[in-house]
Amino acid sequence: MSTYLSVVVLAAGRGTRMKSDLPKVLHPIAARPMLAHVIDSAQSLNPQAIHVVYGHGGERVKEQLSDLPVSWVLQSQQLGTGHAVSQAMEVIADSQIVLVLYGDVPLISPATLARLVDAAKDNRLGLLTAELGDPTGYGRIVRDSAGNVRSIVEQKDASADQLAIAEINTGMLAVNAGQVRGWLSSIDNGNSQGEYYLTDIIALAVESGVTINAISTTDLPEIEGVNNRLQLANLERVFQQRQANRLMLEGVTLRDPGRFDLRGHLKVGRDVEIDIGVLIEGEVELGDRCYIGPNCILKDVVLGSDVRVEANSILESSTVGKQCLIGPFARLRPECHLADDVKVGNFVEMKKSTVGKGSKINHLSYVGDTCMGAHVNVGAGTITCNYDGVNKHQTVIGDDVFIGSDTQLVAPVTIGNGATIGAGSTITHNAPAAELTLSRSEQKTRKGWTRSLKKEY
Ligand code: UD1
Ligand code: CA
Repeated sequence: MSTYLSVVVLAAGRGTRMKSDLPKVLHPIAARPMLAHVIDSAQSLNPQAIHVVYGHGGERVKEQLSDLPVSWVLQSQQLGTGHAVSQAMEVIADSQIVLVLYGDVPLISPATLARLVDAAKDNRLGLLTAELGDPTGYGRIVRDSAGNVRSIVEQKDASADQLAIAEINTGMLAVNAGQVRGWLSSIDNGNSQGEYYLTDIIALAVESGVTINAISTTDLPEIEGVNNRLQLANLERVFQQRQANRLMLEGVTLRDPGRFDLRGHLKVGRDVEIDIGVLIEGEVELGDRCYIGPNCILKDVVLGSDVRVEANSILESSTVGKQCLIGPFARLRPECHLADDVKVGNFVEMKKSTVGKGSKINHLSYVGDTCMGAHVNVGAGTITCNYDGVNKHQTVIGDDVFIGSDTQLVAPVTIGNGATIGAGSTITHNAPAAELTLSRSEQKTRKGWTRSLKKEY
C-alpha cells in the first residue's frame, strides 16, 4: 500500500445537462458507473484511502457503490471544486500526497495517474494538462516567459489573450496535503461564478515557491469529462474500441470490432472467433476455438473448447462443455449445465437444467428444472411442464432415452434409462426403463367418409 497517498474523487456536481433522475456519476460506461471506473483506476495505485465527495441527493450514489473500498464525504452545498476538496481534507493527514480526480472523467488511466503522483514528488505540485484544438470551457494554463506555470484561469474569468491558450487544466492534480490545506484556507469566491476554485491554489503554490510540475497527455479521451449523453456515448465507444483492440491483440478474431460490446470481463482461449453484433456481459470465459455467431448475448457463462453458438442465441449464467452446438435462436436461461457434445438447436429454451454428454434437443422445445442423462434425443416440440401454477417440479430423464416429438412431460416425472416415449404423448406418470411408453388416443380411419361439398344455388 502507498501509505503516503490519499485520493479525493469529486463527484458532488449536479450534472443537470444529463437531464436525468440518475446522478451523473452513476451513468454507466460498459454497464459500470462512471465513478466506479475512476475508483478502479485510483485503486491501481494502491492508495491508503479513496475519499469520494458526493453531493446532496447523492445518497443513491453511496448506496449503489456501497461495496467499493472508499470513504464518503458529503459536500452539502456545491460551492466549487476548492470547497469540495476542503471537505475531504478534514480526514487527510498533512504528510499525505493528495490526488484529486473527477468522478465524471471515467477513462483516466492507471499509467497517467502513476505519472501524476510521481510528478508531485520532491515537494512539487503535479498538474495534468492537455493541449486542445478547441479549449473552450476549460481552465487555461498560464505560463510565464520562461515557460513555468504561474496560474490557472477559468474560461469565464479569462482575458481574450488567455482564451487563446490551448493548454488546458484537466482538473486532476497531486500535491502535499499539508500545503494544499493551507492554500485552500486562503482562497475566496470572488470570481465570475462565485465559487471556491481549486485552481486558485496554483498561483498560491507558485507564491510559496512550490514548482508546478505540469505533465500532459495526448490521449484525450482519458481526460474528457461527461456532461451530457452525447459525451457519454462517445466515451462508451472509445472504451469499447479499446477493449476490442486488447482482445484482438490477445488473439481473438472480431469480425467487426465496431460491432462488439463487452460489459464486464472476457477470458479467452486460442483462436476464438466472435462474429458481428455480439454482446458479452458479466464474467464470460470462452475455450479454445469457440465461435460466437452474429447477435448473440452471453452473460456470465463459461464455454468449453470448440463450442459453436450460432446466430441470435442468448446464454445466461450457465456452463457449456466441449464441442457443443447451440442455436441459432437458442436460449439458455440461468443455471443450465451442458456436458460435452450436447446440441441445443433453434427455438429451444432451457432453464435450470443439466444435460448429459451427447444429448440433443434440436428443435422447438422447453426444458426446465430437468436433469437429463447422456445420449438422449429430445424430439421437436417437447415441453417439460415444470410449473403447476404454484410450484416448480423436476423432470428426470435417464441415459439413452428417446423422446418422441410433441411430448409433454408433466413434472414431477422420471423417464427411465433407455425408455422410448411415443410422439405426441402427455406423460404424467413415471416411464419405465427400456420400454416404449406412449399416451395417445388410437388412430382411426372412417372408411368411405367424404368431405361436404360446396352448395350450389
Ligand atoms: C473545472 C476546473 C477547470 C478544468 C475543468 C476540467 C475549477 C475551478 N475549474 O471546471 O479548470 O478545466 O474542471 O473539466 O476547478 N464538483 C464538486 N463540488 C463542487 C463543484 C464541482 O464535487 O462544488 C465536482 C463536479 O462533480 C465535477 C468536478 O468537480 O466532477 C468539476 O466540476 P465542474 O463544475 O465540472 O468544473 P468546471 O467548471 O468544468
Ligand atoms: Ca463549474
